[in-house]
Amino acid sequence: MSNQKASFLVVANRLPVDSVTDADGNRHWRRSPGGLVTALHPVLQAEKGTWVGWAGNAGPAPEAFDLEGVRLHPVSISQAEVQRYYEGFSNASLWPLYHDAVETRTFRRSWWAAYEEVNQRFATIAAEEAAQNAVVWVQDYQLQLVPAMLRQMRPDLRIGFFLHIPFPPVELFMQMPQRVQILKGLLGADLVGFQRPFAAQNFLRLTKHLLGLQPRGHYVAVDDDLADERLVRAESFPISIDTATNESIAAEPEVIKRAEEIRNELGDPRTIILGVDRLDYTKGIELRLKAFRELLEDGELSVPDTVMVQVATPSRERVEHYMKLRNKVELEVGRINGDFGQVGGPAVHYLHQSYDRRELTALYRAADIMAVTPMRDGMNLVAKEYVSSRLDNTGALLLSEFAGAAGELHQAYQVNPHDMAALKQGFLEAMHASDTDKIKRMRAMRRHVRKHDVQRWARRFLSALGVPEQQALSRQCLGQRAEGTFTTVNEPT
Ligand code: ADP
Ligand code: G6P
Repeated sequence: MSNQKASFLVVANRLPVDSVTDADGNRHWRRSPGGLVTALHPVLQAEKGTWVGWAGNAGPAPEAFDLEGVRLHPVSISQAEVQRYYEGFSNASLWPLYHDAVETRTFRRSWWAAYEEVNQRFATIAAEEAAQNAVVWVQDYQLQLVPAMLRQMRPDLRIGFFLHIPFPPVELFMQMPQRVQILKGLLGADLVGFQRPFAAQNFLRLTKHLLGLQPRGHYVAVDDDLADERLVRAESFPISIDTATNESIAAEPEVIKRAEEIRNELGDPRTIILGVDRLDYTKGIELRLKAFRELLEDGELSVPDTVMVQVATPSRERVEHYMKLRNKVELEVGRINGDFGQVGGPAVHYLHQSYDRRELTALYRAADIMAVTPMRDGMNLVAKEYVSSRLDNTGALLLSEFAGAAGELHQAYQVNPHDMAALKQGFLEAMHASDTDKIKRMRAMRRHVRKHDVQRWARRFLSALGVPEQQALSRQCLGQRAEGTFTTVNEPT
């Protein structure tokens, strides 16, 4: 393993790997699928990069190791810190607050102390691993203090931060007891990226409201003792998917065959409605089920003509709101099936499981209507994955206005999921639309997702951070290795 310092680092709560056990019982690491990893892997490889993150288990972390040309540096998080930093402050304070407080947020001082401590640990490792003038890209709400902590230790670094979830309006953010610390933590970055323009505006507005700064356009000047005056840029960079890979998986004969099998196994219904979400209260699964039940009650839909498949990926299972949600969702699924199912033919096929990419893509291919109806969501990649899998431009996307993706996928059947009548109407509209209308919409959305893929997202962010585009991604994404190290610029242009 090399001891060389990295010129490009990603710092994220999770490492992009899964621990797997092979047939002989040996454990090893495997790169986990996912757009962020796919987009950043070529840059990490080319720049001898390091990814700093948690391996997902409580207790001491394994030694740093190399995998497919990238150094992975696990961060240890104790059992108590998992409860306070991860389940507590990250997922019971920040997560609900940043998602419009669709569930009650809880603040505990002991959670905050652990959040600070763990953020400091991530920052310290990054500071130790980074070469002079390196570029460090910090990811998401679990690590909002890292930019300032890192800058304090290593003012030479170029620091970017990207928030994958929504950033709340001023009134909501103001509830947070540690609002000033969080804001100052983020202002340690040179570039703070958000999914939507509104989020960037909320952030800039807060710098004025809370800290008395004077934001201008996308910039705000900060004076942090380390430099006379430093400009922080805040802007939206909507994340996307690895469209080319998704499309090629969707075109595989086995995937096409599997999609047909799935339709068969579901009894060849006229319409398959699909939902694929982490089992999270922001995703609007309950509202979606309620709408489906009411449509069955109203006689607008009937089983087995129409069936729903709801994949609900296990998530954050020790956090109270998540336990309660699981009970509520499963009760509702049971109720719908009890009232409307038949022997061997449930109305809702509920799957509380993880799937591999191909099975998920086969589901996307099999579905006539994809229901993505979160109450609030930073982006929602599932919506983009569905669109990219519809190679023949068929299918319909029912999309919540409150998903970040709604800012781009204008041709989806957009609904306000908080309005039950509108949600039901949205289902019917998507169901009864003409083929011509659906194809026109899907074609436009596919074109968008093709052009705006995750590689473009990473390229845009890194070049805004001052990493020259040609060095950052363009050639590496085509599978070529880049030469040289990143050049950093001090002033945003
Ligand atoms: P979030 O990040 O809130 O979970 P997104 O929709 O943005 O929501 O991203 C979810 C990602 O997880 C997508 O790439 C999707 O394909 C993947 N995913 C969701 N459910 C499953 C599942 N059951 N098995 C495997 N991957 C899943
Ligand atoms: C969202 C967050 C990510 C998080 C993921 C899965 O996408 O933005 O930061 O990693 O959900 O959640 P988990 O808590 O399992 O990491």
